[in-house]
Amino acid sequence: MTTRNPRPVQPARGRLGVLLPGMGAVATTFMAGVENVRRNLALPVGSLTQLGTIRLGRRTEGRAPAIREFVPLATLDDLVFGGWDPIPDDAFRAAQVAGVLEDKHLQPIAEFLRGIQPMPAVFDQYYVRKLNGTNVKRGATKRDLAEQLREDIRRFKREHQLDRLVMVWCASTEIFIRPGAVHASLAALERAMAENHADVAPSMLYAWAALMEGVPFAMGAPNLAVDTPALQELAVARGVPIAGKDFKTGQTLMKTVLSPMLKARMLGLSGWYSTNILGNRDGEVLDDPESFKTKEESKLGVLEHILQPAMYPQLYGNVFHKVRINYYPPRGDNKEGWDNIDIFGWLGYPMQIKVDFLCRDSILAAPIVLDLALFMDLAQRAGMKGIQEWLSFYFKSPMALPGLTPEHDLFIQQTKLKNTLRYLMGEEQITHLGIEYYQQP
Ligand SMILES: NC(=O)c1ccc[n+]([C@@H]2O[C@H](COP(=O)([O-])OP(=O)(O)OC[C@H]3O[C@@H](n4cnc5c(N)ncnc54)[C@H](O)[C@@H]3O)[C@@H](O)[C@H]2O)c1
Repeated sequence: MTTRNPRPVQPARGRLGVLLPGMGAVATTFMAGVENVRRNLALPVGSLTQLGTIRLGRRTEGRAPAIREFVPLATLDDLVFGGWDPIPDDAFRAAQVAGVLEDKHLQPIAEFLRGIQPMPAVFDQYYVRKLNGTNVKRGATKRDLAEQLREDIRRFKREHQLDRLVMVWCASTEIFIRPGAVHASLAALERAMAENHADVAPSMLYAWAALMEGVPFAMGAPNLAVDTPALQELAVARGVPIAGKDFKTGQTLMKTVLSPMLKARMLGLSGWYSTNILGNRDGEVLDDPESFKTKEESKLGVLEHILQPAMYPQLYGNVFHKVRINYYPPRGDNKEGWDNIDIFGWLGYPMQIKVDFLCRDSILAAPIVLDLALFMDLAQRAGMKGIQEWLSFYFKSPMALPGLTPEHDLFIQQTKLKNTLRYLMGEEQITHLGIEYYQQP
């Protein structure tokens, strides 16, 4: 069992293009945020790649470099942004509509944001019922549309003189699609694209185009896309990293911190009721039952995976778990998420935990987009292909190979991520055993 990467990581030389399907609240908060940081106008709070450190070797060595100095990452100055959206607004207008950032973070960079115009999207209202856009590609088949995306990718790379690209999906949550025969192999998917099959959603076409162009793809919504055998086959065949799905930001972030605590202390759980009010466009899209179902599936899996009811039936065999998202325009992007958690302790005595998280959705998501862009590019330069399980840290519904249970516990995910960085750079894994400091041979 090797714990060190046999291949050297290629340096991050030149410019990195970050392509974003979807230029809404998350994408514009990300791009505007990076530009503010580049101009020293704000701090990249929430970004592990920009602010995190990593301990190396024994605790007595005192080695803890910044992550961005330890692994060869693209710098913020290397990043060039592009995107697609069916709504033709440039990034400045889109950021204003999203209403996340205040004028003090938008006005000084207005010209920069106005320069980012969305390319015409592959969009079909069948998959996102609450949206209507005019900036849309036309094509006889889904295969044609996907080929147009490939052409966009190549042109963007050429025009901006980029060395490498990554793609991070920041577009809407599509209707729920059950994985089926058309997603079972690459050949089946490509046939279905040519036949305009209904189970081929736009997000699959962006992912297919990215992988065909050798561009790593991360899925920020709960859409199936790269979580299919077909696109995983393509990613491995082309040697390209993929990751997903659904950025882990507000309520689920809290859930993946609190529920491992219950399990660690063998405290029981009888019910977990989660509800949200949210007033941005994402909230409006999720008001459609079909899009909500996709999100619900993504949010519900977490407790089951962390608590392992089959292994602990007395503690977690009978949990009532409910997740609601309510569209409430007055709050805009400032979501409020309530959790009522009914737990039980010693001899079965009941207790309750209440969480009221007044969060800002896109403020939590933007640093995730940045970290994923930089880490996916790193993974590619390290020769890692297919599912990047070490990036589970960032996802509500982390992808894993069939037969492997996904890891949801935030702190195990963090350990996995940092150990992967150590592995890539030829440093020892840290097991946190610590006995070596106390028991000398
Ligand atoms: N903000 C968070 O905390 C968070 C967390 C997890 C997941 N997400 C997901 O991230 C995504 C973006 O969230 P947001 O708040 O920016 O939403 P948003 O509605 O502000 O932006 C989404 C944008 O995607 C565009 N779009 C829709 N279909 C498209 C297509 N086929 N091609 C290109 N563009 C398309 C829309 O026109 C819109 O501008 C959503 O799917 C959301 O569920 C967000």
